Amino acid sequence: MTTARAHPNVALIKYWGKQAKPGNFPATPSLSITLSELTTTTRVDDADEDALVLNGNPSRDAKIVEFVAALRTEFGFGPLAIETDSNFPTSAGLASSASGFAALITAIDAHCGLELDAAVRSQFARRGSASAARSLFGGYVTLEPPNWQARPLAAPEHWDLRVAVAVTSTAPKKIGSTEGMERSRLTSPYFDAWVGTAAADFEDAVAAINQRDFDKLTDVAELSCMKMHGLMLTSKPALNYWNGASVDCMNLVRELRAAGHGVFFTNDAGPQIKAICLPAEIHRVAAELRGVPGVIEVLESRLGGGAAADP
Ligand code: PMV
Repeated sequence: MTTARAHPNVALIKYWGKQAKPGNFPATPSLSITLSELTTTTRVDDADEDALVLNGNPSRDAKIVEFVAALRTEFGFGPLAIETDSNFPTSAGLASSASGFAALITAIDAHCGLELDAAVRSQFARRGSASAARSLFGGYVTLEPPNWQARPLAAPEHWDLRVAVAVTSTAPKKIGSTEGMERSRLTSPYFDAWVGTAAADFEDAVAAINQRDFDKLTDVAELSCMKMHGLMLTSKPALNYWNGASVDCMNLVRELRAAGHGVFFTNDAGPQIKAICLPAEIHRVAAELRGVPGVIEVLESRLGGGAAADP
C-alpha cells in the first residue's frame, strides 16, 4: 500500500473559464498559495477490481473514475483500491478536488512505479481539475500560458503569509466548477473583459509577491476575486456562491483593514471566506471571523509544501 498527501491551494488570481478545446485548459492565468494545515491523504493498493472510498463512503465519482481510466490507458497498471480522506469540508469551495487529484496522481505514481516528476504529475492532475495542477507544488504557484504548466514561483519561506478559512456551510456546492465555468463563458457579457484583463492582474500579483508588497497584493487579489464573482453573478442563470455570512465576513475583513490591520479576503466557488494576513494578525483575524453569526468554524493555516508520497 502507498500513501500520498497533498494540500488544497487558494487562488489569489483566479481561474474561471476554460478554453474551447479538449484537455481542460484554463482561459486565464492563475496564481495560488498552497496551505499546510489542510490535507488530503490518499492510499492506493492492488485489488481484484477498482474500488474507490471517499471520506469513508464507497463512491463512483465520475471525474475520478475517468481520471484513473485515462492514466491506465497511458501506463497500463492493474486494478486499484483507492481510499481518500480530507481533514476539511469537501466539495464546498475549499479546493478538495485540487488536493484530491494532486494526492491521487502522486499516490498512483509511487505505487505503480511510474517515476513521473512533479511537473509531469501536475500536467496529469490538470486534466482532472486545472486548479489541481497547482497543488503539486508548495508555497506560491503559477499556472500560465503558453503551455499551462504549473510552476513554483516562491517557496513558503519567501513570505510567511497566514490564512484563516471561515467555514460558513458544509453543504456540497450547487453547481460544480466545470458546469459553472461553461455557463459563464457562454452567457456572461463580461467574459471577454475577464479574459482580456487577467494577464495584467496576474503580472501585478507576481510583482507583489516578488516584492513582498502586502498592499499591492491586497488590491489585485480582491480585484481578481470580485471580477470572478462579477462574472458568476452575470451568468445566465446567475451563479451566486455566497450566503449572508460570506458577505458579512468580507465586510468584516474590509473593516479590519480600514482600522489598520493587514488582511484581505478571497473566496471561490462556495460560501467559505479565506482571509489572508501577516503572521502578527492571524489570531485577531480568526477570532473576529469566529464572532460572525453563521460562521461554523475558522481553520488557520500557514503556507505549505507540495504533494508527496510517504517513503
Ligand atoms: O479546478 P477546478 O475545476 O476545481 O476550478 C477551480 C476554480 C476556483 O477555485 C473558483 C478558482 C481557482 O483558480 O482555484
